Amino acid sequence: MLRKLFVAAVFVVGAAQPLLADNAVDPQADFKAFREYFTKRFPKVQLDDFVNGPYSMDEGLRKQWKAIEEFPPYEFAVDHGKEAFAKPFKNGKTLGDCFPNKGVGIRQNYPYFDTKSGEVITLELALNQCLEANGEKPLDYTSQEMAALTAYMAFTSRGKPFDIKIPNDPRALAAYRSGEEYFYTRRGQLNFSCASCHVQSPGGHIRTEVLAPALGILNAMPIFRSEWGNMGTITRRFQTCNSQVRGVPLPGQDVLYRNVEYYLSYMGNGLPISGPGARP
Ligand code: HEC
Repeated sequence: MLRKLFVAAVFVVGAAQPLLADNAVDPQADFKAFREYFTKRFPKVQLDDFVNGPYSMDEGLRKQWKAIEEFPPYEFAVDHGKEAFAKPFKNGKTLGDCFPNKGVGIRQNYPYFDTKSGEVITLELALNQCLEANGEKPLDYTSQEMAALTAYMAFTSRGKPFDIKIPNDPRALAAYRSGEEYFYTRRGQLNFSCASCHVQSPGGHIRTEVLAPALGILNAMPIFRSEWGNMGTITRRFQTCNSQVRGVPLPGQDVLYRNVEYYLSYMGNGLPISGPGARP
C-alpha cells in the first residue's frame, strides 16, 4: 500500500487520502517500501546517517553541525533532565521509579502500544502519566522542562536502535494506520501533507532550512534549534510543522500526534537513537 501512497504523495498534486480505503494494513510491507524509497533516492547517504536529519542531506550544513557539536547546546538540558529525574516527588518516589531500568537507555522502545488502555503511549505522555500518578503537576508538552527530561532519556539511549513493536491487536494496527493516514493527508491553507515536505522534498529548502528525510526523523528528538534559542520536544516540532502549512496545530499529545509518532518511529526501526540533536 505504501508504494502506491508514495506515488500519490509525490506525483498527484492535490490528491488527498489516496488509496487508503480498501487496502489491508501491512506495517512490514510499508516498512520495506519506505526504506527502499529513501535508500534508492539517496544512495550516497549511509543508512545510519539518515537519523541526522538535514545534515545527512547537505554538506554545507554538515560542516556547521560539526562546529555546533563542539559545544553542544543541548548539554544544559541533558544535565537538567538528569537532575529532574533523580529529584524526589513529595511522596519520595522519583520519575525513574515509573520506568524500566530507572528510565536509562530505554528511549528506543517508545512509543509503544499499551494493550490495557488500547492507546499509543509516547515518552512525553508516559512522563506526564508518571507525574500525575504520583500527585505531581503534569508538564506542558512543549516546555523546556519536558524537553530536558526527554533529552536526558535520549542521551542515555544513544546508539540503541529504534525497536517499535506493533502487537497483533486490531487496535494497534488501527492506531498505526491512523498515524500513516495522518502523515499522508494534506492540510492547512498550503494543502501540504507531512509527506509533501519530508518524503517528497528532503534535502530541499524552505527559506533557510533544509528539509529532513522522514526516514529516521524522530531519532534525534528532542532538538535544540538555534533559531528558537532553546529545545523543542516532538510535540513542539509537530505543532510547528502544522503551523508552517498554515494549518491548525493539534493539542499536545492528541491521539493523532501519538499515532503519527508511532508510524514514523516504526519506520525508523533499526536506526540508532541520536538525540538530543542540534539544528541551525
Ligand atoms: C511545509 C513543509 C513541512 C511540512 C508539511 C511538515 N514539515 Fe516537518 N519540518 C519542516 C521544516 C522546515 C523542518 C525543520 C528543518 C528540518 O529539520 O527538516 C521540519 C522538521 C521536522 C522534524 C524534526 C526533524 C529534524 O531532524 O530536525 C520532524 C520530526 C517533523 N518535521 C515532522 C513533521 C510531521 C509529523 C509533519 C506532518 C504533521 C510535518 N513535519 C510536516 C517542514 C515541514
